[in-house]
Amino acid sequence: MPRDNKSALIQKIAKQAFITFKDCRSASSVDGNVLTDKLNELISLVTSVRAKDLKMMAPKNRPSSGAAEPQSPPVSYMHICETEVFSMGVFLLKTGTSIPLHDHPGMNGMIKVLYGKISVRCFDKLENSLTVPPDFDPQLAPLQTAGVWRSVLRSVAEYSENSGPCLLTPVRDNLHQIDAVDGPAAFLDILAPPYNPDDGRDCHYYKVLHSVTEPGTGAKVDQEQLGEKENEGWLLEIPQPEDFWCGGEPYPGPVVDI
Ligand SMILES: [Fe+2]
Repeated sequence: MPRDNKSALIQKIAKQAFITFKDCRSASSVDGNVLTDKLNELISLVTSVRAKDLKMMAPKNRPSSGAAEPQSPPVSYMHICETEVFSMGVFLLKTGTSIPLHDHPGMNGMIKVLYGKISVRCFDKLENSLTVPPDFDPQLAPLQTAGVWRSVLRSVAEYSENSGPCLLTPVRDNLHQIDAVDGPAAFLDILAPPYNPDDGRDCHYYKVLHSVTEPGTGAKVDQEQLGEKENEGWLLEIPQPEDFWCGGEPYPGPVVDI
């Protein structure tokens, strides 16, 4: 079978992603009515994709095959395609690895598990607060307070190959941490528009300073902040963690022409 099969599911997904996101390259949201039908069609296509559609297979369940080894990247990326409208590829996570908490400024995104299981923890920045968290020690990093953000934990959920996609928008679930659960995992990743530091869309990493719902943090919270704000906390922008880096692997699936 030719690799550039025009009827390949991944080709249909790429075409639909282009149609869906071509008019929202700026900080608009996919929540708009205009895009709903197109987005739903994309979600339907992405929901049906499986590892075999990309000529991929889950690694055999041997300790040496799926576990991260010293000097080998914990996470790898298979590039599929990129246009000004969107990028698409596959992230491969070895056993016990994570993609640390990071953002997607002004971007929409879609994650679909191909094999294995992942846990996705989604946050949003609430505002760029000029104040600091109640228990933040200014001696730790007095110059970093500009990179401290009030935030809200939106959701924590697990996804497997039979789950629908996990979505993010410029304003909802925009930051996430992704952990491989119970073995290696792989997921299709669509970002629209793609990361582009020259256009204000660089990737930043964050550390959770504390969550008011986590016991024993010593967080002091005003009474009025409790209740509906119980998932609010603080994020500190950090450099890319030293134990995380992303290698590259060749994409084995059908060629995408977009
Ligand atoms: Fe991401």
